[in-house]
Amino acid sequence: MSVIAERYNIPEQHFWLHGPRSGQPVEFDASAGMWNVYGYPELHEVLMDPATFSSNTMRVVPKEMLPKEGFSLEGFITQLDPPEHGKLRKLVSSAFTRKVVADLEPRIAALTHELLDEARDRGRFELVTDLAYPLPVIVIAELLGVPSSDRALFKKWADALFQRDAKPTLERRAEDLDAVMKPWREMSDYLADHAAERKLRPRADLLTRLVEAEVDGERLPDDQVVNFAIILLLAGHITTTMLLGNTVLCLDAFPDQQDKARADRSTIPDVIEESLRFLTPFAAVGRATTREVELGGVTIPADQVVMGWLAVANRDPRQFPNPDVFDPGRDPNPHVGFGRGIHFCLGAPLARLEGRVALNILLDRLNPLRTNPDDPAELMPTPTMTGVRRLPLL
Ligand code: HEM
Repeated sequence: MSVIAERYNIPEQHFWLHGPRSGQPVEFDASAGMWNVYGYPELHEVLMDPATFSSNTMRVVPKEMLPKEGFSLEGFITQLDPPEHGKLRKLVSSAFTRKVVADLEPRIAALTHELLDEARDRGRFELVTDLAYPLPVIVIAELLGVPSSDRALFKKWADALFQRDAKPTLERRAEDLDAVMKPWREMSDYLADHAAERKLRPRADLLTRLVEAEVDGERLPDDQVVNFAIILLLAGHITTTMLLGNTVLCLDAFPDQQDKARADRSTIPDVIEESLRFLTPFAAVGRATTREVELGGVTIPADQVVMGWLAVANRDPRQFPNPDVFDPGRDPNPHVGFGRGIHFCLGAPLARLEGRVALNILLDRLNPLRTNPDDPAELMPTPTMTGVRRLPLL
């Protein structure tokens, strides 16, 4: 059994955290009606070939499994293939630049201290509620220019969209889609109102930059601004919350690595990268085959749903020796925690920055950084997400 599974109550569905998996790198799951890609080289093939493994997964979802009312992910950057994807990615990248992100460092540090001060004054410290959730949400809300005081609302939407328990079966997927319609619509309306406001009264925020973004004389249509803002608001906090919690779990389970990181802070970026490999927050990505294709010794027909298990590929011993050991010294560490290829995470610089700044401050202020054995960490049961939802610290 792996150190992590022994120490924490890891949900059964996160099978890759319970020790080495046996089985083939590519397998068909008849109950879910989809193909699972677990091997590193096989997943690499999938992610680098968008012509065969399309991101437009809605195309292959049977109509009866869609919610009754019109719901479409069409036009979402994560669902687009070339050439549309490249055009949109260029436009949004022109607003969400590395400089916009790098300039946030002092604000992220100040917020981390404020949140930790508040927790100290309350006399208890639960990492998720007190820091890992509010920090990235406040940062992304301020960056977009929507009131961070609305964050209870964002949490309600994000929970409704992401926190689901069981492995999806065909019937469940239809129910799940119905359950997400209401929060989805509320969130779209909320962001559409803010975007319309920025058109009338521009401000120094990312929503205004998105509304005004122009590449080769083209601007983003209104619905694309809203779609992209939705992705930022959701991706901008759920995943980074998981990254922070997971990194603390890793340093708790491997105290020698915590000592090393504390002694040499230049290794913190490597700690963050290894945390992304070891406890990959966004465990799987979906694709749909456009043609029959050979992968990992099996033949996948056209128009099939393919789940690419980033979290499992990140523990493929063919790529990472001793995958169940948390070792920030891995060099290179070509993990796929942020994906690979044309859809590589656009928010990676922000997630890395938040992780580095917050972890440095946590190490400054808490020595040792330890979970509470009398009040153990709880992980989210959602199979495609790896992250704590409660993490009391000593
Ligand atoms: C895409 C993971 C944080 C915005 C992705 C993908 C992964 C990922 C795996 C690729 C999806 C695919 O191939 O289908 C993560 C993780 C994060 C994180 C693990 C934190 C630890 C963020 C943040 C933002 C963000 C903070 C924005 C504020 C995006 C966007 C895409 C994306 C816009 C779509 C890019 C495209 O389709 O071209 N992310 N993400 N992510 N991520 Fe992140």
